[in-house]
Amino acid sequence: MPGKLYLGTNTKMYKTAAQTEEFLTALDTLTKEIGREELELFVIPSFTALERARKCVPRERIRIGAQNMGWEAQGEFTGEISPLMLKETGADIVEIGHSERRHKLGETDEQENQKVLCALDYGFTPLLCIGETAAQKHYDLGPEVLRTQLKIGLYGVHPEQARKIMVAYEPVWAIGVGGKPAGKEYAARMHRIIRETLLELLGEEGNQVPVLYGGSVNQENAGDLILIPDIDGLFIGRSAWDAENFSRIIHRVLPLFQNRS
Ligand code: PGA
Repeated sequence: MPGKLYLGTNTKMYKTAAQTEEFLTALDTLTKEIGREELELFVIPSFTALERARKCVPRERIRIGAQNMGWEAQGEFTGEISPLMLKETGADIVEIGHSERRHKLGETDEQENQKVLCALDYGFTPLLCIGETAAQKHYDLGPEVLRTQLKIGLYGVHPEQARKIMVAYEPVWAIGVGGKPAGKEYAARMHRIIRETLLELLGEEGNQVPVLYGGSVNQENAGDLILIPDIDGLFIGRSAWDAENFSRIIHRVLPLFQNRS
């Protein structure tokens, strides 16, 4: 199991480049004293903010990721951003398959898989997001859905690439305004299934994949979530978009994570 705590935020379609810079500068100052051998902090802003984001804080303190990526180097893909273009910005994480992309923009597991493989080919860390809908949860299909999303999404990924990928479990019903955070027991059960599936797909190396929980994480529930054994970090939306709030969560969960048995 990775010993580092992973904490990140996707700012969705909220912050301009100027707002992203302000946020990152504040976040860096607020987390200055935390050694990066114990924490991997990342921020995933809009495409138009990437270059400025990368320049305003050092990579070893805050990694920067893109919210999506086309899976070809170039071509007839109007509106898409290719891995070569992302490389130029200095971003090194690519978020793939966020629930809004799957459910509002119709992305499929097969497309997420193409993006994962392409991201690895170009040296990015793919952050594959998976999660079941409320209807699937109702029928207790979470395990099947997560297994399918992992088996297709990571198809063709080799065990030696395990250290280069991240997974975020974000139940669709838990995300965003109106979302309800997953209960501890439910989250623990789903995270166990994710870990077992990673071990099945990648052998022992499956233990090296950081698996983050996301969906209505806030200052109240972050402490409980981080104590769940198969959770290596948190992927946070709304509660992290204010640097001080995010910093409070970071400072609260880090010691809990480190003292976890
Ligand atoms: P939320 O968003 O924390 O605002 O629910 C999570 C996400 O969309 O990744």
